[in-house]
Amino acid sequence: MSMEETNDTLCVGIDLGTSRSSISASNGERHVIDSYVGWPLDMVARKLIQKPILVGREALDSRSMLDLRRPMERGLIKDGSKKDEEAVQEILRHLITQTGLKQKNKTRSKVRAVVGVPAEAFRNSKQRLRSAMEGVADSVMLVSEPFAVAYGLEALLHALIIDIGAGTADFCVMQGRYPTEEDQRTLPNAGDSIDEQLLIPKRKLRFI
Ligand SMILES: Nc1ncnc2c1ncn2[C@@H]1O[C@H](COP(=O)(O)OP(=O)(O)OP(=O)(O)O)[C@@H](O)[C@H]1O
Ligand SMILES: [Mg+2]
Repeated sequence: MSMEETNDTLCVGIDLGTSRSSISASNGERHVIDSYVGWPLDMVARKLIQKPILVGREALDSRSMLDLRRPMERGLIKDGSKKDEEAVQEILRHLITQTGLKQKNKTRSKVRAVVGVPAEAFRNSKQRLRSAMEGVADSVMLVSEPFAVAYGLEALLHALIIDIGAGTADFCVMQGRYPTEEDQRTLPNAGDSIDEQLLIPKRKLRFI
């Protein structure tokens, strides 16, 4: 145990997903939330909601009153939007709050976080995730999602990990080493693209 790792350090594992995000903490807390964030749209919405921001199911339930964001796409933070970056940070903050992080004399426990990233996450998307974690956790480690699963299941050799999510389908072959780029593939078709194909536009319905 290192010097700074005292009883006051909370270790958390976070899976930031396109559709759902989860956290598992060293104090035994485990939570799953919907990856949605919303800000009240106007004065009327602010008066009704009485909170500056809603996260998860609460946000979905009040969607008509909110600027509602689902900030992840294909397993990564949506590109180019400040608001989506902010939304990801709110999801991370919300997840950590859910663990009942101790707040003593205005100084809170230290948070060490391990965050899963899709098999083929690019350098710049990892960088953006790191900056989203700033101010949320005191130290951050990014790990390949399929590798985290393989490690947890002790399936490190002769195993194929398949994770079909909302944004991506990830494949990772475990050959007894930390997976290289060659060992991992991410396909951009998963639950979301199936939903999109099932949504028949109204104008087409007339011809059925
Ligand atoms: N019971 C179910 N049967 C079939 N599909 C389901 C079921 N429950 C959820 N799904 C679908 O699974 C997907 C969500 O899976 P998951 O929570 O693993 O995704 P995610 O981790 O948020 O996404 P990603 O890993 O791509 O970022 C959604 O597309 C959802 O519609
Ligand atoms: Mg996932």
